[in-house]
Amino acid sequence: MTLFLLSGIGVVCFNTRLGFLDPELSSKPDAMEYLKASKSVFRLLHQEISGGSILHGLYRNKTYRNFEAVQLKLKHYSGKELQKASQKLKEKQQNGTFDTEEPNLLFSLLSDPKIDLDDISNLMNSLYVGGTDSTAKSLQIFFYNLAMNPEKQEILYQEINEVLGPDQPLTPEALAQMPYLKAAIKESFRMMFPNLGISRFMPKDVVLSGYHVPEGTQVLICSSSVSKACFDNHDQYIPERWLRTEQGKRSDSTIHPMSVLPFGYGPRNCIGRRFAEQEMFLATVKVLQKLKIGLKPRSEGVQFIYSIFLEPEKPIAFIFSKR
Ligand code: HEM
Repeated sequence: MTLFLLSGIGVVCFNTRLGFLDPELSSKPDAMEYLKASKSVFRLLHQEISGGSILHGLYRNKTYRNFEAVQLKLKHYSGKELQKASQKLKEKQQNGTFDTEEPNLLFSLLSDPKIDLDDISNLMNSLYVGGTDSTAKSLQIFFYNLAMNPEKQEILYQEINEVLGPDQPLTPEALAQMPYLKAAIKESFRMMFPNLGISRFMPKDVVLSGYHVPEGTQVLICSSSVSKACFDNHDQYIPERWLRTEQGKRSDSTIHPMSVLPFGYGPRNCIGRRFAEQEMFLATVKVLQKLKIGLKPRSEGVQFIYSIFLEPEKPIAFIFSKR
């Protein structure tokens, strides 16, 4: 799943397929290094947040040096990809084939003289790192929930089959006819929340549940607990709770609209939300059109832990069988 998502985000960030789905991947040292570096970022961040490293704020301890090395590696690799993309852009501009209306994030940034290459490189690295593990783990957990709840998987398969049959590609029109797919993903986020929550520095003094919290205090909004506390049968996977009636109202009117916010909230919410959702829709439809998702018995009831994002303690052994 990580490789699928690395390939997808590579197209957004660098306008090219970086070869992560290539059977020859292990013989591409650059791509392997990049893969390892992008995975290390979250491991090191988790080490910092969970108290595994306290002194990095005071001096360049081991965690700091490792983090720096990983970031430099990412920058080196993305620098090379950006050079290739700017070369391509120059050629297009010179031979008159550059279309300014074409929706292309990288070309629109590169062709803006006010933005320098270093800023673009930093932005692309943030998107690249932020967009890989997050979605790969969420997709894996979603497949796990479908495998653990075969009757819900069957309802989802029926929806996909009715709209697209076994071979049709997913289009925005088809997606609009798939409420169960969206409900099934939302329920997976609710039941197994992808991150612990979001944090904010208080812009002024506030009183929260009777406690005075002074301006400037960092507050963690523990969304992972809220998404359990607010729901009946919170440990059951019930996508139906998110379906709407024909009048567009939610079937369960007791659900608070802020109770499940896996992508955060407000002006600093997740910039990659739409992209992550599209990837999850696409991967699910493609897989379920052809395959049933099951689990080897050793993976049923596997434990999940937070390492920035929620992940299984041990690798999940899926069984994909032909329909
Ligand atoms: C299922 C997948 C994902 C989840 C659950 C997720 C979750 C989050 C959350 C909770 C935040 C903090 C929001 C807040 O504080 O209100 C965030 C921020 C961010 N995410 Fe995601 N994310 C996902 C996918 C992605 C993808 C695909 C990308 C890139 C294409 C991405 C890039 C970012 C960036 C750059 C930020 C920082 C935004 C800022 O500080 O303004 N994320 N994400």
